[in-house]
Amino acid sequence: MSPHPVAVFVSGTGRHLENFARLAESGELPIDVVLVLANREGIGALERAQRLGLTSLVLDPERELDSEEFSRRAFTACEDAGAQTVLLAGFLRRLAIPPAWRGRVLNIHPSLLPAFGGQGYWGERVHRAVLERGCRISGCTVHYVDDEYDHGPILVQRAVTVEPGEDPDSLAERVFAAELEAYPAALLEHLGK
Ligand code: GAR
Repeated sequence: MSPHPVAVFVSGTGRHLENFARLAESGELPIDVVLVLANREGIGALERAQRLGLTSLVLDPERELDSEEFSRRAFTACEDAGAQTVLLAGFLRRLAIPPAWRGRVLNIHPSLLPAFGGQGYWGERVHRAVLERGCRISGCTVHYVDDEYDHGPILVQRAVTVEPGEDPDSLAERVFAAELEAYPAALLEHLGK
């Protein structure tokens, strides 16, 4: 069976992008990354895309478009590239999901949603807030995306115990290790594998 074509949307360092590309290459995931879409220039994810030989597109780095127009162009690019599923991987711009794409856009978030999600909660800020609140457990969530930040039906969660004396960096590292397992597992579930 031919691999399932996916687009990966990025705004940051691109570790998930690289993980997906490697799992596709090794055959551990039955996918083909047909497009990398970024909303910023000069990010690590674009360097990785280039190194991995992936097709990439930077859309609206000056933020001139509203989210409806940005989304319309982004998903048109996905359709032109033949993508059937979109994976948000550290993508930090709100999307208006076109009706035809509902249930086909996945996101990963570095907390156990619905805790510590929503606008302003991304990356290190999430882990800092988790520690400030005194949580004993954190983790990550893969969910379908709707028009609200970090909302939409949950596919997979992985819990991570918060250790005594933890700082945001050490928690981020262990949550990220859980993310690297959770996102491919969620994608397999989405694909019905
Ligand atoms: C990941 O930790 C992901 O959970 C987080 O951004 C990082 C992306 O890393 N996403 C969010 O905070 C979304 N609200 P990467 O660019 O190296 O793949």
